[in-house]
Amino acid sequence: MTLKDKRSADIEIILSKYPTKRSAVMPLLYLAQEEYGYCSDEAIREVADLTALDPTEVKSVVGFYTMFFEEKTGQYVIEVCDDLPCALKGADAFVHHCERKLGVRAGQTTPDGKFTLRTVMCIAACDRAPVAQVNREYRYSLTPDGFDKMVDELKGTV
Ligand code: FES
Repeated sequence: MTLKDKRSADIEIILSKYPTKRSAVMPLLYLAQEEYGYCSDEAIREVADLTALDPTEVKSVVGFYTMFFEEKTGQYVIEVCDDLPCALKGADAFVHHCERKLGVRAGQTTPDGKFTLRTVMCIAACDRAPVAQVNREYRYSLTPDGFDKMVDELKGTV
C-alpha cells in the first residue's frame, strides 16, 4: 500500500494549502515520515511523485533538514542540543550521561527499538540548557536525574 492509498485525504488537504505541488514537499515528507517512521527511499519516491519533483531533489531536502530521518528510528527520538551555547552549559557531559543511561552512543537506537539518541544543532532554547526534544516536544533544563526519570516513564517502568 502506498502513502497515497493510506493517507489520500491528508495528502489532498496538504496539497490544497500550497500554490504549487512542489511547495508541499516538506509537509508531505512529514506525513511520509509519520506513516513509515522515516524517509525511506520508497517514501522519497512517493513524495517526488506527488510533488512532480525529481527524487534526488526530494532526497536533498531530507538530507538537509535534521528533522527528517533517513534511517529507521526508535519509538522515541531524543535530540539533545550540543551546539556551542549549550556545550558551555554542560551539554557534552549531559550527552554522555544520556548515552550511559540508554546504553547506546549518540546516533544509535536502543536494541528494543524504544529510543534513538541524537545530538543536534541549536534548537533555539539556549537559555534553558541542557535542552532536548523528545519526538519534537521540548524538555528544558534537563538534569541527569530528570533524564533518567523521563526515560523510565517513557519505558513504562515507573
Ligand atoms: S545552542 Fe542549544 S538550544 Fe541553542
